[in-house]
Amino acid sequence: MGKKLIEKARIVENAAVYHGTYILKVKAPQIIAQALPGQFVMVEINSLHDPLLNRPLGIAAVDEAEGILTMVYRVVGRGTSLLTDKRPGEDLNIIGPLGNGFNMNAKRPLLIGGGMGLAPLLYVAQKFSPTPVEVIAGGRTKDEMFWADLFASVCDQVHVSTDDGTLGTPGTCVALLSPVSAGKNFDAILACGPEPMLKAVAQCAQELNIPCQVSLEKHMACGFGACLTCTCESTDGRHLQVCKQGPVFNADEVKL
Ligand code: FES
Repeated sequence: MGKKLIEKARIVENAAVYHGTYILKVKAPQIIAQALPGQFVMVEINSLHDPLLNRPLGIAAVDEAEGILTMVYRVVGRGTSLLTDKRPGEDLNIIGPLGNGFNMNAKRPLLIGGGMGLAPLLYVAQKFSPTPVEVIAGGRTKDEMFWADLFASVCDQVHVSTDDGTLGTPGTCVALLSPVSAGKNFDAILACGPEPMLKAVAQCAQELNIPCQVSLEKHMACGFGACLTCTCESTDGRHLQVCKQGPVFNADEVKL
């Protein structure tokens, strides 16, 4: 893991892609020079430096040539609501890269993400290139699946599911794991999404005998191990800090 940096980052884009979901691009060349897939940053949202408004956002893409860091966020509270007011040309303090990323040693990875959990997997897919990558992307409805286009540019195959069946296979993304894996030699499953989804993915991965890594989504106040808002329990009973020891864990390492 590289050194944590605080970088004043100029906003390049902050635009809605779907109801209440925004793509945020900032110039942060120092942070992206160190960023690994699965890591995240803390975005300092207000100028009064109220840490309660800081938000952890996964790194969704990196443009090394332009020095641009891409994040995707959903408006869920005051902090993210204030973030939507920020305009291109304004600056944001970005702290990162934080946490531990995915083990990227796989030769034939399968990614699976639900909802906003797809954001960090986008950078994972980008970084695996030219290794062939397939992704299973799940969402509630067709309009929410703008992700399919984003993944199409970095993945060999994109398998989509929606809860209401308006795009791809009806139902949850987890139901696609077995059929998508059939006859293929995936050597790693990399998953990110809500905890019930991760639990189901981990069980299925075990049945398929494919090593599985999960990236946990937890509420985080500080992002670097100081506040203990993000703890989870390991399978051997230890308390782990998701921001520092995660957010990525081997699935058999944590209680889901
Ligand atoms: Fe503060 Fe993890 S977010 S300890």
